[in-house]
Amino acid sequence: MSYFFYSQFLRLLILSMTPSSVSLRISVSNLILEIFEVCKRENDAPVLMNEPYFYPSSWNQTLNPPMYAPNQMCSWTIYIPMGYYATFAMKADIGGDNSLTISDSNGNTELIMTSDLQPYVFVGNKFTINLIVGANGNSTKFGFVVQWSPFPTPNPVFYHVNKTSPALFFDEMLYENSVTITAETRATIVAFPSTYPDFTPLLRITLVFDGPDLNSPYLGTLFQALRSNKPMVSNSKQMTVFTFQENYIVGSNFVVQDYYNVQSLSATKGVTCWSDTSCPVTLNAAKGPVSAMTLNPDDGKQYVKQLALSPNSVLKIYNGARREGDDSNLITTYNCEQSKTSIPQKFYGTIVTYYLANGTALVELAEDSNFTRWNDASDGRQGFISSRRYGKLDFFQDVKEEIGGLDSNQTFSFEINVIRLDVSNSAELVISFKNATGEDVHKFSKENNYQSRVFQGIGRNMTVQYNSNGEETSGFYLHFKIEAHNGCPGNYFTMTAFLLLFLPLLY
Ligand SMILES: *[C@@H]1O[C@H](CO)[C@@H](O)[C@H](O)[C@H]1NC(C)=O
Ligand SMILES: *[C@@H]1O[C@H](CO)[C@@H](O)[C@H](O)[C@H]1NC(C)=O
Ligand SMILES: *[C@@H]1O[C@H](CO)[C@@H](O)[C@H](O)[C@H]1NC(C)=O
Ligand SMILES: *[C@@H]1O[C@H](CO)[C@@H](O)[C@H](O)[C@H]1NC(C)=O
Ligand SMILES: *[C@@H]1O[C@H](CO)[C@@H](O)[C@H](O)[C@H]1NC(C)=O
Ligand SMILES: *[C@@H]1O[C@H](CO)[C@@H](O)[C@H](O)[C@H]1NC(C)=O
Ligand SMILES: *[C@@H]1O[C@H](CO)[C@@H](O)[C@H](O)[C@H]1NC(C)=O
Ligand SMILES: *[C@@H]1O[C@H](CO)[C@@H](O)[C@H](O)[C@H]1NC(C)=O
Repeated sequence: MSYFFYSQFLRLLILSMTPSSVSLRISVSNLILEIFEVCKRENDAPVLMNEPYFYPSSWNQTLNPPMYAPNQMCSWTIYIPMGYYATFAMKADIGGDNSLTISDSNGNTELIMTSDLQPYVFVGNKFTINLIVGANGNSTKFGFVVQWSPFPTPNPVFYHVNKTSPALFFDEMLYENSVTITAETRATIVAFPSTYPDFTPLLRITLVFDGPDLNSPYLGTLFQALRSNKPMVSNSKQMTVFTFQENYIVGSNFVVQDYYNVQSLSATKGVTCWSDTSCPVTLNAAKGPVSAMTLNPDDGKQYVKQLALSPNSVLKIYNGARREGDDSNLITTYNCEQSKTSIPQKFYGTIVTYYLANGTALVELAEDSNFTRWNDASDGRQGFISSRRYGKLDFFQDVKEEIGGLDSNQTFSFEINVIRLDVSNSAELVISFKNATGEDVHKFSKENNYQSRVFQGIGRNMTVQYNSNGEETSGFYLHFKIEAHNGCPGNYFTMTAFLLLFLPLLY
């Protein structure tokens, strides 16, 4: 086998060098780390398919990369035979007037500033590396290693999407390395940053193909899909996402839809909000409608902490992916005025989609309820509370929410409008208002379903609890409006003071 490789792959790695007219300066040193490399074909030793190829040959992963002599252009073309892929890793630190770019077989180019052996996978017939070393040569350090391997055995799963079906989401590829989706028109993918930010570069080793398997034309990596802010679209009806993650847990998070539902978008992005702090998302519809999507497979919830909209623009928020011409999963909309009164807001949904048809929006997302102050009542605040999978027949609808004053002596008036409610079977919705002095409870069930759904409660806090008691329901959706209840704290205090003063006299 190795003889075959020897002859066939001798020409796998071709180095072309284009030194500029400026003379090359080579400093000789015994220490490998301090050699000023002139990029050249170092030796004529054959490139062996089954062994890693190091450039320069004196370098390996455990060493610091060499520095480069100024004023040269180096270009490497690395060929990949059919049925093979190349893993590539480099140590790079590219100085100010130097540049390093790496291009895949589709000509998609990544500009590299630094790299510390993060893995890349290349397929197709070749990839190219271009290093331009400017006058300030020795600020650049670079060394790389390539290893060729035959395509791994796929462990595939197959799915379908159509114009009306919900989007599919994948939050890992732990049990399969290959996902093939067949669409009604074409398949389109949105990629998400890894839940652990440091792992996001690993999305370079999950590749997308235009067809049923990894012998199909190569479209790009999940990392490219993420960076492009555009949906990656197949030309055929099928798309295959393949991860070469044998030695890594990549965290390949992505959503697949039928192209029909994203065709009008000028941009889209996947957002992962992983911290206690805020995740600002900007949407600019200057070139046409845009959307952003979050994927929350862990707890299925997130918060909007702040929202700023340009005048006349309307932000639409969907539970799930947006479908063209179908607003059945639209959960709320905000105009400029509502963005001031109706935030913070909690959203349930494994996928939540933010869609803006025109203007601009700044959406500040957060994962933590304390940080967003979702549970704090304030004068003039409005919002909604919904069950987890509101609008869909589902077992997982239960929620418990409490919104109230920070100080124990605050009193609010809560105006409630229960807009949709499913209390079939043994499902129940209980809304209660509490004071130190008492509790006012409104309970909706199959037996008790005909009371007014628009009412008011006064208290320090409001509790909303929906329990489907293990049955499938479509849940509920209510709107609330909070106003400060004037006078009451004063009265309460006068009363307390009064009692405190005169209590001893009662005995
Ligand atoms: C890397 O190169 C150094 C110096 O030649 C050598 O001592 C070391 O064993 C090499 N490491 C590996 C992993 O090959
Ligand atoms: C290269 O590095 C040496 C030693 O660090 C320094 O003296 C020299 O000025 C550098 N040359 C350039 C062109 O930056
Ligand atoms: C679309 O997919 C859904 C399942 O997601 C299926 O129920 C429906 O029949 C499909 N519609 C068409 C037109 O294929
Ligand atoms: C925004 O789009 C809506 C329809 O989607 C349109 O009615 C409205 O006039 C547009 N506003 C601006 C400022 O372009
Ligand atoms: C929110 O605040 C409460 C009270 O200060 C605390 O008990 C709870 O752990 C906090 N929750 C989070 C997610 O930090
Ligand atoms: C009660 O409210 C007043 C002002 O409204 C505030 O100064 C005071 O600290 C509050 N008392 C408590 C115990 O929260
Ligand atoms: C809600 O109000 C009641 C009565 O004032 C109080 O006992 C309870 O602690 C409050 N709940 C929260 C979470 O503040
Ligand atoms: C809370 O107190 C206010 C004023 O003291 C009163 O109007 C209201 O009915 C009370 N709410 C409950 C649930 O007892």
